[in-house]
Amino acid sequence: MPKLLVVCGSLRRASYNRVIAHALPALAPAGVAIEIFEGLGDFPLYDGDVEAAGMPAPATALAARIAAADGVIIVTPEYNYSMPGVLKNGIDWLSRLKPQPLAGKPVAIQTASMGAMGGVRCQHHLRQTLVALEARVLNKPEIMVGQAQNKLSADAITDEPTRGLIAKQLAVFAEFVRKG
Ligand code: FNR
Repeated sequence: MPKLLVVCGSLRRASYNRVIAHALPALAPAGVAIEIFEGLGDFPLYDGDVEAAGMPAPATALAARIAAADGVIIVTPEYNYSMPGVLKNGIDWLSRLKPQPLAGKPVAIQTASMGAMGGVRCQHHLRQTLVALEARVLNKPEIMVGQAQNKLSADAITDEPTRGLIAKQLAVFAEFVRKG
């Protein structure tokens, strides 16, 4: 059974992206297990001196969870046309580990924002960073949930086309993961 790990790029309690992350298990195809990681806020800021003293436990813990997963789904807001610093910080720490856990790992991206464009500019930056880490990133379908405030409730995706597109991406991603 493919196991997917969802990494949420927002720390906000009422985050739209967190709502989407928690909706994914019910939208996934049968036989796909989904776990959610919400610990990016526990990472220290990347600092080579901290690294020299020993890799922080949150980084090694996330790396172990990624290693144990068949694929990763990053669900994140766009901040100032890019990814949130907290997500980039987590990725920077992961990039320092050997073996580097995202190398060769299938990754799908989902973004949600209150803007009309749904985080498309974040997707480009995140994809570029994932190239540096040699992740195997799914190209399509792309998930950009624009005006998320109109498509989500406090605990569910209420917009049916959005649910359908996300379910489609999960099905395509499960196949992408299975093909290896
Ligand atoms: C934003 N927001 C935002 N939205 C967008 O579509 N493009 C952008 O570049 C930005 N930039 C941005 C920067 C910062 C610092 C913040 C705090 C917010 C708005 C953003 O879409 C909105 O706050 C979302 O609700 C954030 O996602 P979560 O926390 O709800 O998952």
